[in-house]
Amino acid sequence: MEKKWWQDSVIYQIYPRSFQDSNDDGIGDLRGIIKRLDYLEKLGIDAIWLSPVYQSPNDDNGYDISDYESILPEFGTMEDMEELIAEGKKRNIKFIMDLVVNHTSDEHPWFIEAKKSKENPYRDYYIWRDPVDGKEPNDLQSIFSGSAWELDETTGQYYLHLFSKKQPDLNWENPAVQQEIWKLMNFWLKKGIGGFRMDVIDLVGKIPDQKITGNGPRLHEYLKKMNQETFGKYDVMTVGETWGATPEIAKLYSNPDRQELSMVFQFEHIGLDEQPGKSKWDYQPLDFIKLKRVLSKWQTELGNEGWNSLFWNNHDLPRIISRWGNDSPEYRELSGKMLATLLHLMKGTPYIYQGEEIGMINTPVSSIEEIDDIESINMYQERIKQGYESKDILKSINRKGRDNARRPMQWDNSLNGGFTKGKPWLSLNESYTELNVEKALADPNSIFYYYQQLITLRKENPLVVWGDYKELLPDDPHLFVYERSLANEKWLVMANFYNKSASYHGEIQEIDKVVLSNYPNPQQNLVGMTLKPYEVIVFKLK
Ligand code: NOJ
Repeated sequence: MEKKWWQDSVIYQIYPRSFQDSNDDGIGDLRGIIKRLDYLEKLGIDAIWLSPVYQSPNDDNGYDISDYESILPEFGTMEDMEELIAEGKKRNIKFIMDLVVNHTSDEHPWFIEAKKSKENPYRDYYIWRDPVDGKEPNDLQSIFSGSAWELDETTGQYYLHLFSKKQPDLNWENPAVQQEIWKLMNFWLKKGIGGFRMDVIDLVGKIPDQKITGNGPRLHEYLKKMNQETFGKYDVMTVGETWGATPEIAKLYSNPDRQELSMVFQFEHIGLDEQPGKSKWDYQPLDFIKLKRVLSKWQTELGNEGWNSLFWNNHDLPRIISRWGNDSPEYRELSGKMLATLLHLMKGTPYIYQGEEIGMINTPVSSIEEIDDIESINMYQERIKQGYESKDILKSINRKGRDNARRPMQWDNSLNGGFTKGKPWLSLNESYTELNVEKALADPNSIFYYYQQLITLRKENPLVVWGDYKELLPDDPHLFVYERSLANEKWLVMANFYNKSASYHGEIQEIDKVVLSNYPNPQQNLVGMTLKPYEVIVFKLK
């Protein structure tokens, strides 16, 4: 594989609404990000995936775009954006823009035109169908609950929306739509960005009449064309949000020979604590053996024919320490460091979601009034109608709801955690007095400095980026153990995933030195090795 800059890079995701407010309107903004670039440089990241900052009515917090070529005033101006890119450049930090082109906002001028009449030149930018027996064309469901079809009273036809009804799906079969998308992508490329993160890109080849949504037949044709018409001419990275990808499908997207995307961002591990065949809201405890199997499968099966993202968190997922670690004050940092090590020593491009590097945790609520997220609110209303009890629905939301990730960043222990002096758009997790950036920076053992070390290890050791991966003890119910090797060098990563000590019953190998660990003075002999709660050790072997 020809080496690319994004293969030994670490990406940091910013959800701008919740990162840093600079004008005290309670909403994070671009100038706030500029203010914090030195902090991110210190962490050591290479690029920022910036969740959408474009003009938007905010039905889905920016994932409903009404103008791709202007900035939402709450976030700032195009000049601010240009300054942000330039300030990033000074610190070797690139910007990966969030490209949301499966759908637009219903307030986008294209849709406003399209719904005027069946003859409007923009009509075919979207997906319209006649009613069937006076009802929806079929029973396709929206990912945000309810039918995926919405009746437009004026013209008597339904339009498709796989997300909220304010997010009508674009008709990718229309060449004019493709041209518009290439144009807006080139607009951003010319500004010197580092690439695109492509929102639900696996859906753009849908055939709604056959109820095919993900991985439609023309998907890869579209991506090839996109590559040729836009980013193929630039040295940028592209990452596709691809929910239903298998390693075979991931190769279609990311095999460099195919000239589509740089890498996939797939979620197979993320679905392992939900009941099979149901939704993310229907919880079942994580099957640890399966988690190891899935992560290891992705490590070994892509080979040199594809590239994967490594992540535990993003703006749609609960905080990993609360989810699969332990968010009690005693184990918060230990489990956070353990989880981070497992991920960052794998092959792929790691993503850190804002606040992960200081160990931020979930924020349970006791009423739906405290929730902002449209996905959670729609699901709540639907389940209430279906007869579920409010307290059970809230339990699901507290476990998996997206607001867990969207609470403002905890910078210090001043009012509102230093996020804003105004009224925050979403209240903070009350842990901010204890758990914040200022405190993390003052403590050499903090999770922040641990992430910094993980990033440095990747930069300084080709083994972390390129080494082979081998899982050991796949059936061990407590330990996650794997080896990485490159040329004559071999590392052993050993983690105890649980809060009770666990002993190692694997092959005895000779240790050269400890590369990293989350407890002081780790044991340095595999004979009689016992790992403490959430202990992780990375050994270099002889
Ligand atoms: C995936 C995004 O990550 C999520 O936040 C958004 O709601 C949907 N796509 C729709 O754009």
